[in-house]
Amino acid sequence: MGDGFGGGAIFNRASPSSHKSCVDRIIAGYLRPGQPARILDVGGTDRGFRRRATLPPKSRVVIANPEVGVGADYDYVHLIPPKEGNFDLAMIFGVMMYMERDSLLTLLRNVRQRLRGGGILLVAEPDPKSVSGYFDAGLKKIGHSVLNTRKFIFYSKADTTALLLEAGFGETRERDDLRPSLVLPPYYVIAAKNGESGRR
Ligand SMILES: C[S@@+](CC[C@H](N)C(=O)[O-])C[C@H]1O[C@@H](n2cnc3c(N)ncnc32)[C@H](O)[C@@H]1O
Repeated sequence: MGDGFGGGAIFNRASPSSHKSCVDRIIAGYLRPGQPARILDVGGTDRGFRRRATLPPKSRVVIANPEVGVGADYDYVHLIPPKEGNFDLAMIFGVMMYMERDSLLTLLRNVRQRLRGGGILLVAEPDPKSVSGYFDAGLKKIGHSVLNTRKFIFYSKADTTALLLEAGFGETRERDDLRPSLVLPPYYVIAAKNGESGRR
């Protein structure tokens, strides 16, 4: 797994992108039927959303991920060239927990810049306020301080909503119906809309 960002992340059962039913619901909820779609998967892999998505011809799923061997098109969002155009839908699933707040805010701003006006960013992260998520976060914190394992930062729904608004998104909505059911730790899903006027 390259530089070790994601561990077993290439097949992360808790992520919506690991389940065809979730991917289908995302497509039905956020893309225009029959129209070619432009999708950005931040921190995605070619075994996730791109593999499961059934999309109209001429659609494109761009993956930005610095991890070696995951089939990314670009390492980082800010390295995506202008020729890729703007995206209808962006996803950032299971990535925020690897990022400090300041670099995360910069990334969210960069993603918003690449969305068309009215475009949607979907965020999915482990919910540290759920019962199992609370214990999972606690164990990871102990692992980091005692065993020097990787540091994870757990953003609650409220933290993420505040970050999205600070990054310039106009409105947010909880979409936990898009996450896989009966998979632990539970992820929450938040949809954030870029203003209709596009770049601000
Ligand atoms: C837990 S995996 C999630 C994989 C996939 N999105 C999913 O839902 O199954 C986290 C991934 O985030 C990627 N990542 C971390 N920081 C990133 C950044 N700044 N930009 C893009 N990807 C990043 C890592 O390389 C890793 O592959």
